[in-house]
Amino acid sequence: MVVLAIAVPAAASSSQSDADVSPERMAELRAFLTQDCGSCHGLTRKGGLGSPLTPEAIADRSDEDLALTILHGVPGTPMPPWSALLTEAEVDAIVRMLRNGD
Ligand code: HEC
Repeated sequence: MVVLAIAVPAAASSSQSDADVSPERMAELRAFLTQDCGSCHGLTRKGGLGSPLTPEAIADRSDEDLALTILHGVPGTPMPPWSALLTEAEVDAIVRMLRNGD
């Protein structure tokens, strides 16, 4: 019981520090973007089954709009929701990668 009482708040506070995505997690997200997102959007993000995600292609979309699309997907299309796999901070990091083309 005592162990549980200590472990639970510790786990809760570590998952709340997502605002800072660690360098290790950033590297994982970059690989995820290339492999998972890239399977539909192209390895170089120039499009495929999914639309192009180059900086030019998303220039007229707001960060918030892009983040919501990634979190919730586009119903009725193959674009799935990613909210079960990615936190909002991680999606924001992905939006910055797309924006910068890096
Ligand atoms: C199974 C295929 C598939 C995968 C995997 C996928 N997407 Fe998509 N995505 C799509 C399709 C198809 C669309 C276009 C939907 C439409 O017609 O509006 C789309 C649309 C988008 C859009 C909106 C682009 C725009 O200009 O409207 C964004 C942003 C996006 N995807 C990001 C991602 C990211 C980031 C990932 C990885 C976490 C990802 N997608 C993974 C298929 C996919």
